[in-house]
Amino acid sequence: MRRPRIFVARGLPGRAMEFLAEQADVDVWPEEMPPSPEALAERAAGCDGALTLLTDRVDAALLDAAPGLLVVSNMATGFDNVDVAAASERGVLVTRTPGVLAETTADFAFALLMAAARRVVEGDRYTRAGRWKTWGPEVLLGQDVHGATLGIIGMGGIGTEVARRAKGFGMRIVYHSGTRKPMIEQETGAEFRTLEEVLREADFVTLHAPLTEDTRQMINAESLRVMKRTAVLVNTGRGGLVDQAALYEALRDGVIAGAALDVTDPEPMPPDDPLLTLENVIVTPHIASASVATRSRMALLAAENLVMSLRGEVPEHAVNREIAERWSERVSRALA
Ligand code: GLV
Repeated sequence: MRRPRIFVARGLPGRAMEFLAEQADVDVWPEEMPPSPEALAERAAGCDGALTLLTDRVDAALLDAAPGLLVVSNMATGFDNVDVAAASERGVLVTRTPGVLAETTADFAFALLMAAARRVVEGDRYTRAGRWKTWGPEVLLGQDVHGATLGIIGMGGIGTEVARRAKGFGMRIVYHSGTRKPMIEQETGAEFRTLEEVLREADFVTLHAPLTEDTRQMINAESLRVMKRTAVLVNTGRGGLVDQAALYEALRDGVIAGAALDVTDPEPMPPDDPLLTLENVIVTPHIASASVATRSRMALLAAENLVMSLRGEVPEHAVNREIAERWSERVSRALA
């Protein structure tokens, strides 16, 4: 078999690049900004595999421009940037990197929840603006996290880790998810509810559902009206889960009390977005998984998924494994 040729859509942290270079001929996109769709298509053409990021759109046009691609390894747990149906139609295997980022992302979701509840970012702005004149009994009063009810929407790997943290903080947990999770219920005391019940009961609502056609804008004007007026929305999932125009109006008009968003639609959020005019909003630049150790693990797992697939094995984290019948034979033929 010849050495596979792969395109890597950005420089990666940790050992991943070294590992890939040992196994394949590697072309790396050298810039900080992602390749344009045209550049991505041009560089992926002639490659057997591509390692992509959530900023890269992998669609029919790209796959047609790079007909030699056998596998697209997405360095993310989410894969809404990949048209999986288009990949499956063309026999392209798609992989992702769940698991390794769940705890780090949950830590960050909790950091946002705490920051919004206790007005940490506002407090920092207040100090920097020279407004801290004295200790005041009514200055920057927030909400308690302990004893409050947390609503988790999406009890996958990340939602589960958030529930564990919430238990430690003495929160009551209600959740809604595609499937019920009895083990997590037993471990954390989380109670299963309909989506509407979660929104109605929770003091904090945190989103961990994947973005699909069914979940797009699941938080909209109507659902925001169901939430408590004192509620805080935390989103470390995908920006598309929320109707942002409706969220802006709800926050402006006091329909809910606050929001902390690590993901927006579009990304990046433009600096003149109306949400950024509000004091009761925190926006961070999609960094929930951004710890040194976790980003290195994600990069290595994405590299391993790619290399394994190009050796003819189907990785555990293949999204469309149903297309991988006689995968090893297909790979051997392509790399003969
Ligand atoms: C990040 O957003 C991911 O999906 O891994």
